[in-house]
Amino acid sequence: MTWSRKASEIVSSEITPRQLVLDRRKFLAGAGALAGAAALTGLKSVVSPRLSVQAAAGIDGIRKSSLSTTGEKLTPLKDITHYNNYYEFSTDKYEPAGLAKDFRTRPWKVEVGGLVHNPKTYDLDDLLKLAPPEERVYRMRCVEGWSMVIPWVGFPLSALLKRVEPLGSARYVAFTSLYDPRQMPGQQRGVLDWPYEEGLRLDEAMHPLAILCFGMYGEPLPNQDGAPVRVVVPWKYGFKSAKAIVKVRLTDSQPPTTWNKMAPGEYGFYSNVNPEVDHPRWSQATERRIGEFFKRKTLKFNGYGDQVAQLYSGMDLRKNF
Ligand code: MTE
Repeated sequence: MTWSRKASEIVSSEITPRQLVLDRRKFLAGAGALAGAAALTGLKSVVSPRLSVQAAAGIDGIRKSSLSTTGEKLTPLKDITHYNNYYEFSTDKYEPAGLAKDFRTRPWKVEVGGLVHNPKTYDLDDLLKLAPPEERVYRMRCVEGWSMVIPWVGFPLSALLKRVEPLGSARYVAFTSLYDPRQMPGQQRGVLDWPYEEGLRLDEAMHPLAILCFGMYGEPLPNQDGAPVRVVVPWKYGFKSAKAIVKVRLTDSQPPTTWNKMAPGEYGFYSNVNPEVDHPRWSQATERRIGEFFKRKTLKFNGYGDQVAQLYSGMDLRKNF
């Protein structure tokens, strides 16, 4: 499926159901542009050219990616936005929704550098124009044993990485979340070594399932879920998907990551979902899907093994947990 297809060729089933579809104007005002600027200059001048093309073509929905998980009930928005791990705000899952309410997501810059030919600091609005937004429904599995099914909006992380042209020596990608203790009360305490840092091997980051995410349920990403932009890597435990990122750095050696530094025996660099490798303090064989009573079996690579298992061929996943 390519972006160049004409609107008339896109069948309605590929388009997000209407109630989930964002109101384009609302989304752009929230996710792609300053509402004030939009009011002053008219919306056209602040939307990306691609999105204008999309609007002109009369497509008022975000296309549903064929890489979406199908046949699973979506977790209600209320649960996705009121049961969060976001230690910058609180270690209590019920608190980020309230504490992140006034978090400022504009202006926002993301610095992309390290071992690349074209380092660049992107204004968020420019970053969001790098590729057309898609809806990606993914199963998400937290290392603590609960899971959700979330209709994210984003585009492949590879679109950004290709743009900055990694050097031949680049092998890993490091992500850094915002450090701003005045806005993020959790950072006033030493619960983690701030800022939050995560990383992927470059080939993992280039995999089509890894996305840069800026929306959910057809709307801009709620603050408590990582606005304005986060990473989403569905075959790994949730903590690999860093929220509110401000820096992307390509490196030649494995970057340090927050949870691995905190407890190296419990959280490895890879952290692929794996029911065969237990956490030292609990089993990973089953999970509780939020909203369900009975536990279900956890799937290896969170059910994305057909697509990603080859990234790890020949590796001992017990050692590289
Ligand atoms: N990113 C940052 N910056 N800070 C965090 O505390 N928590 C991680 C991950 N990304 C976290 C983060 C964990 S443990 C999980 S399970 C997911 O975010 C939760 O994402 P959600 O709240 O959108 O479901």
